[in-house]
Amino acid sequence: MAEKTKEEKKKVAPKKKAVVKKEPKKMKTPQTLRGMKDILPQDGKIWRHILDIAQGITTAYNFQYVETPIVEEAKLFVRTIGKGTDIVSKEMYSFEDADGSKLALRPEGTASIARSYINNGLLTQPQPVKMWYYGPMFRRERPQAGRYRQFHQFGCEIIGDADPVADAQLIVMGYNFYKDLGIETNVNVNSIGTPDDRERYLVELVGYLRSKRSYLSEESRKRISKNPLRILDSKDPQDQEVVAEAPQIIDWLSENSRQYFMSVLEYLDQLDIPYVLKPTLVRGLDYYTDTVFEFFDANAPEKSQSALGGGGRYNILVETLGGEPTPATGFAIGIDRVVDIIRKRVNGGKYTIESPLLSLYFAHLGEPAKKQSLHLIEELRRNGINLYHDLGKPSLKAQLERANKIEATHAIILGQKEMQDGTIIIRDMSSGIQEIVDQKKLAREIHKIQKNLKK
Ligand code: HAM
Repeated sequence: MAEKTKEEKKKVAPKKKAVVKKEPKKMKTPQTLRGMKDILPQDGKIWRHILDIAQGITTAYNFQYVETPIVEEAKLFVRTIGKGTDIVSKEMYSFEDADGSKLALRPEGTASIARSYINNGLLTQPQPVKMWYYGPMFRRERPQAGRYRQFHQFGCEIIGDADPVADAQLIVMGYNFYKDLGIETNVNVNSIGTPDDRERYLVELVGYLRSKRSYLSEESRKRISKNPLRILDSKDPQDQEVVAEAPQIIDWLSENSRQYFMSVLEYLDQLDIPYVLKPTLVRGLDYYTDTVFEFFDANAPEKSQSALGGGGRYNILVETLGGEPTPATGFAIGIDRVVDIIRKRVNGGKYTIESPLLSLYFAHLGEPAKKQSLHLIEELRRNGINLYHDLGKPSLKAQLERANKIEATHAIILGQKEMQDGTIIIRDMSSGIQEIVDQKKLAREIHKIQKNLKK
């Protein structure tokens, strides 16, 4: 048989390929990491509310908002929080960058603020510098209720003020923050003196703990040489018996530190803050000097991981980081723990987050009205009026259902008839009374309603 020419070969109908129906490849949905969580829409209102209170209180006490990066050089935390602390030795997320530098996700905010103070020459600004911050922190702890690996702190730092009144005012500020949220707190306070005081005390404490070694828990026995102060904090009943008889740091304070602490307590008395002197309170970070304090929910038992916030003076931190010797003091509040408390109270009907007096929902009917809505919504926004809307929902019924659901006080309705005559409806959602107004006068009318509501 003669061979087929190229042309003939082309004409041969191509074989039909069997069509294999391809299922889209579905991956197993990734989960959040252990100890990390999403903040969900139903909790958004609670978070915003708490941050509004933080904003209000920091404004009242003249603090400026600042932010520092989430990733820093690891040594910033190792040198300041301390090598022997749990935070640095066990819990820090540290890693090597592509260029070999050792980095870490910040486990707290104070060291970064002190670094920023030095780096940015804040020493040349009028002292003290009062700063507040809010943001995620990371500690690879064993997760449990109220203890997360990514959590959020609201913190306040006063750098450049050596007066004991600054410590007292910070304690009042923290106390009032919780009070504004309806949370009654117990404030524990103590003084850990200067590094020299601590060194002398540690000799005594370690001697005592060694003599009681056999009565201590396994964990505390390991801590005698690594981090003996942490044993004072132990919630293990076996350890607590030993700690109850241990020498107290307060008896080892130098005269200056003792006087200083007395002044802090006097100011707290002046301010009527119900504090508790806690001789075993030492805090888990190395940079502290003199005053230390912690806040606990007065309506819940105190557990080792249940502090709602804590802080203290840290006069050696700026110098440790290579700056001029600079006195400083501050606190940080664990916002996730505060959210957990408020959420429980909101769900149990024991706490209400005030809704704004006026809450508007913009509804439309039909395509032309939808287009006109885009303009009207922008115009209202320019006039400082915010609205909820679902322009993607064509059904008026569905839109009004939503207005009810979000508890809008008023619905603004743009229907076909209103489109024709340049008007718009304002409906009072509780009484059902409707008012028809000129579209051009809408902003003015809404401002009028707002004024009347405030009366
Ligand atoms: P801190 O005691 O380590 O202090 O943390 C402050 C607060 O952050 C704690 O009282 C707690 O409410 C919250 N917190 C800590 N770890 C977790 C966690 N794993 N999960 C949820 N919440 C947590 C500091 O960080 C210091 N920088 C405070 C300070 C500021 N001192 C002076 N200025």
